[in-house]
Amino acid sequence: MQIAIDGPASAGKSTIAKIIAKKLDYIYTDTGAMYRAATWLAQKEQVDYNAGATIVQLLQKNPISFQIHSDQQYIYVGDRDISTEIRMPQISNNVSQVAALPEVREFLVSQQQQIAADNNVVMDGRDIGTTVLPAADVKIFLVASVQERAHRRYLENLTRNIQTPLAVLEKEISLRDYKDSHRSISPLKKAVDAIEVDTTSLSIDQVVQKILKIINNKINK
Ligand code: DC
Repeated sequence: MQIAIDGPASAGKSTIAKIIAKKLDYIYTDTGAMYRAATWLAQKEQVDYNAGATIVQLLQKNPISFQIHSDQQYIYVGDRDISTEIRMPQISNNVSQVAALPEVREFLVSQQQQIAADNNVVMDGRDIGTTVLPAADVKIFLVASVQERAHRRYLENLTRNIQTPLAVLEKEISLRDYKDSHRSISPLKKAVDAIEVDTTSLSIDQVVQKILKIINNKINK
């Protein structure tokens, strides 16, 4: 069973995907974290963010893996846990560039397809329903207004003691939307058979219930 959850930055994909995966006892795959891991590796090895072939070589030498400890999922590169480091601004600000490299995408997409071939999976990203798993059983496209997404990021940042003004966050999110939707390879785009869920005025629980209903309807069809 393959469930694809796509949508723009901060629409709530990972929060929702994690809960759904847990409820269904499926594997959760955060593909954005994989592009962040590639960016982290390039930064650590001081490789140019445009050097796709070299970044792929680094990924081959230092494989990405997801590991679960005490019910929490962590992302590793080789034997190093980079779950916290990949959320830092120096990664967030450069990941769009690395995620636009065809060699990197080809390499990571094939890993994502392998994960989905071996497991029941809830996978979130930007191109899961269109490119990674075009035959996914259920495709969800999560959206929310820029203002709402900036507000959520603002609250999330406060819990990490990061104080970025709301207006700056709105600008950053709009820019990331633009970059993710306008790149030439696998842009952020709703699959024709995806169901759009607008989370702007919904609670996390309401979104989860809505998606579980969509999944149940599909399964029982
Ligand atoms: O969801 P996120 O913010 O962690 O994603 C990080 C970056 O990776 C973002 O710029 C979009 C990109 N990405 C992508 O191009 N394709 C995916 N399947 C997932 C993320």
